Amino acid sequence: MARSPDTPGVALPADKSLILKVVPMPADCNANGDIFGGWVMSQVDLAGCTLAMRLAGGRMATVAVKEFVFKHPIRVGDVVSFYGCVTRVGRTSVTVDIEVFAERMSRQGEYVKVTEAVLTYVAIDAEGNPRAMNAPAPDEVPAAILPQQD
Ligand SMILES: CC(C)(COP(=O)(O)OP(=O)(O)OC[C@H]1O[C@@H](n2cnc3c(N)ncnc32)[C@H](O)[C@@H]1OP(=O)(O)O)[C@@H](O)C(=O)NCCC(=O)NCCS
Repeated sequence: MARSPDTPGVALPADKSLILKVVPMPADCNANGDIFGGWVMSQVDLAGCTLAMRLAGGRMATVAVKEFVFKHPIRVGDVVSFYGCVTRVGRTSVTVDIEVFAERMSRQGEYVKVTEAVLTYVAIDAEGNPRAMNAPAPDEVPAAILPQQD
């Protein structure tokens, strides 16, 4: 199968905040030499959990992840950005949407959208049981808890 071409860059999301930026290393590759999907999924989970913990102010557990579709590969040395927003706040759970963009070293300043996922986290107590939160609704999330754009 032909490899996905490097499509022209896309705009970064204006409705989400930059949560993480990371550069994958050769140890993160699959047998094809591209970055392993499991590495990307774990980084998405880290980004989502970071956002959820900022909102809930404590320990969280991942309870659900909605489908990952990988439209373009990530390569060693790409700068990978994880943008996210809170989409739902329940009694004990927070749902976030995370979008992933790769910036190729050979095309700096252009971003390729790699994947997107919706993840739900549950606030848990010391015994690992769900605990009620007093988190604000998504449209009332204070900008101060979100990381600043660079
Ligand atoms: C997370 C955990 C503590 C939740 O406990 P639980 O008894 O299953 O939770 P409940 O059924 O009371 O639901 C708790 C919240 O999760 C939400 N939830 C449960 N299953 C869900 C699903 N499949 N999708 C989205 N939300 C879900 C519920 O709607 C509820 O949210 P709300 O209180 O805001 O309405 C427990 O399932 C657990 O420990 N799971 C393992 C977590 C883990 O190890 N994750 C890492 C991956 S291995």
